[in-house]
Amino acid sequence: MKINTTARIIYNKQVSNEYWNMKIYLPQIAKQASPGQFLTIQTSKTGSPLLRRPMSIHKLTSTSIEILYKVRGRGTNLLMQVKKGEELQVLGPLGHGFDTDIPFTTAILTGGGYGIAPLKALHDLLKKKKKNIITIVGARTAKLIYKEGFTGVRVSTEDGTAGIKGLLTKALEKACCSNLKGPAAIFACGPDKMLQAVAGVAAKYGLPCQVSLEKMMGCGIGVCLSCACRLEKGGLARVCVDGPVFDAKEIKWNN
Ligand SMILES: Cc1cc2nc3c(=O)[nH]c(=O)nc-3n(C[C@H](O)[C@H](O)[C@H](O)COP(=O)(O)OP(=O)(O)OC[C@H]3O[C@@H](n4cnc5c(N)ncnc54)[C@H](O)[C@@H]3O)c2cc1C
Ligand code: FES
Repeated sequence: MKINTTARIIYNKQVSNEYWNMKIYLPQIAKQASPGQFLTIQTSKTGSPLLRRPMSIHKLTSTSIEILYKVRGRGTNLLMQVKKGEELQVLGPLGHGFDTDIPFTTAILTGGGYGIAPLKALHDLLKKKKKNIITIVGARTAKLIYKEGFTGVRVSTEDGTAGIKGLLTKALEKACCSNLKGPAAIFACGPDKMLQAVAGVAAKYGLPCQVSLEKMMGCGIGVCLSCACRLEKGGLARVCVDGPVFDAKEIKWNN
């Protein structure tokens, strides 16, 4: 059940060159939420910007939810200025999260840019489920890498300033070729182009792959259709309610 509530900020701090981390006291939403789901947050009390901003659930406890965000425009600029103890309107949990009940023993978490955000809550759940975890973190350059709290980390940067030089799929292929412990599954989040390439690697190695898509969202609750994506079987899905997590095979990537 979606809950719309006024929530108190526990902290809001800059955690790297690129990212901010906000912890929100949200017991009702946290109780129901699962990794891969998201919140929409009203960033302004004046009504501008009007639309709530979607943010993935980065960390989850029984009473709180953390988000990890990059400041992009007006909404996230306002979010950055919110102080401990202040309140925000939050709606959640929204969408469908990752399916961790499929058979696998090794999870390959693959995050590009702020796509790493929803993978932390997933990482923590998989740790509890005693899965082996490989985390591939990719970005253009070293200073954009965020890997706090992840285990089994392999870094890739396009300019070679950290880890494997090249696109993140190069590190992913390397992981897929390595001696994996038992059946593996890929869980990925990042820009569409990256997800399409990850889906290609998954198909090549015959691995199940779930992708968390990011689309511009108007309402976040299935009404405005601004988040539509094409499906391989034909027709459209609404990323906000049918996703954001999909089986990579379901998505029609070239449209
Ligand atoms: C399901 C979902 C989960 C998300 N989770 C996170 C997260 O965990 N951390 C995080 O930093 N960001 C996340 N985003 C993206 C985040 O919602 C946008 O960055 C934010 O809405 C930008 O708002 P703004 O007012 O600051 O920027 P705007 O002024 O609205 O836009 C600034 C720039 O960001 C681009 N942009 C805006 N919204 C999106 C979007 N939804 N997807 C891609 N580009 C966008 C615009 O095209 C523009 O170039 C998520 C988006 C979705 C749909
Ligand atoms: S954002 Fe409105 S239908 Fe998905």
